[in-house]
This record gives sequence, C-alpha cells and structure tokens, in this order.
Amino acid sequence: MDTPIYLALDFPTWEESSAFIDSNGLQGIPVKVGMELFYREGPRVIEQLKENNHSIFLDLKLHDIPTTVNKAMKNLAKLGVDIVNVHALGGSEMIKAAKEGLIKGAVNKEVPKLLAVTLLTSMGESTLKQELHVNDTIESTVVRLAKLANDSGADGVVCSAHEANKIKISCGFDFLTVTPGIRLTNSANNDQKRIATPVFAKQNGADAIVIGRSITQAKQPIKAYQQALKEWGNVIK
Ligand code: C5P
Repeated sequence: MDTPIYLALDFPTWEESSAFIDSNGLQGIPVKVGMELFYREGPRVIEQLKENNHSIFLDLKLHDIPTTVNKAMKNLAKLGVDIVNVHALGGSEMIKAAKEGLIKGAVNKEVPKLLAVTLLTSMGESTLKQELHVNDTIESTVVRLAKLANDSGADGVVCSAHEANKIKISCGFDFLTVTPGIRLTNSANNDQKRIATPVFAKQNGADAIVIGRSITQAKQPIKAYQQALKEWGNVIK
C-alpha cells in the first residue's frame, strides 16, 4: 500500500467516475469500487481503471454460503484487483472459502488481499443491541470478529479507525486495518457514525483509509485529496 488513501468511487456510472478523476487531476490514484458502480458497469470498470494504472479495492462485501463465495472470489481474482472483501459475520468457513477461491483464481500468482468487514461504520451501538440483539460493546464485537477473520486466513479487516489499535494488539502488527468513515475537518458526517480524521486514523493504527464524500463532494476535490495526503503524511507512527 504505497499511497494508502483509497478514493471511494461512489458514482453511478463509469462515465461520471472517469470525468471526476480526469477533471480533478486524480489519474492513477488508488480507488475503491463499490456495489453501485460495479453492479452498473461490471468488469469493464475494473479493466478501464487497470488500464489507467489505478490500484483497486473492489468493495463488494460478499456474504453467502462458502461454496458460492469461493467461486465468486475465484472470478474476482481473475479481474486482477488488489483488494477484495467479505463480511466477517459470514463465519470462518466462508472466510476460508473466500481465500481459497482467490488463490485458485489469482493471475500470475498475485493473490488479491482479502479483508473482512467487521461491523459497518454506519452501525451504532443501539442498532447492535436493539436490532441484532448483540449485547457486547461495538469495540469487543469488532475485535472478536477481527480475530475470527485472522484465524480464518484473511489479510486484514475493514474497521473504524476507533478500533484499529485494539485490532493490531489482538491480531498482530501485520494484520491490515483499512478504515472508512473518514472525514476531513469541516466535512459533513452524512450517515457515518464512528468517524475519524486521517490523522486520528493513522495515529490509531490504520494502514490505509477510504475516503468518499469528503473528497467527491468537496468544493475543490483535488484540494481535499491533497489535504488528506498531507494530514496522513505528516503523522509519524
Ligand atoms: O463517503 P464516505 O467517505 O462515507 O464513504 C465511505 C465508503 O466506504 C463507502 O463507499 C462505503 O460503502 C464504504 N464502507 C464503509 N464502512 C465499511 C465498509 C465500507 O463506509 N465498514
């Protein structure tokens, strides 16, 4: 992860994504492609981004029976993306099956990194307790799911910056922590609950961050991206 800031390309079409990248001078930066864009454009969007030298985190958050996830991951690995993910709540068998699928489908033995989503950063403690009937705190639930992912062969987790440090302590320094829910100073929170700045994320053990609306909805996206890079770069771990 050379430049560990992934821009969330949360746009409905490739045309809008590429127009945003080009008009803001963001060619070649690491990007995250999520469901909105992938479900509209399919593998073509990955081919286009690869042609333009973007490192790609394909954020489809798979959660299905192990056999299906295994076969889906084999196909995703063939696309040559750098990072993919599953929900840790799918359990150990599903995470192991995902890893095996990635190994089978890897192009030139380059196996995409497998991350597990612990809890969505949009989820607050009341949802966890009242709707999912999980009476643990968010923090201990997240750390428990991270350990499960680590034991099942995932390379890391997607988590809130608030839990990255605890995950490193429990799972080891090499276990990756990628954190969305990032807001630059003066940005709106939108639907994210456990938000953090790039400085806080890095200080608290994040290896990489994902930023969407703080950049895509900024008045000057390139300035916002540069601010994020500067904030991240200025922190010495
Ligand atoms: O706009 P914002 O910076 O909130 O975008 C965050 C991005 O990270 C979105 O694409 C969202 O799907 C993704 N994400 C998240 N929480 C997770 C995993 C991914 O917000 N736990």
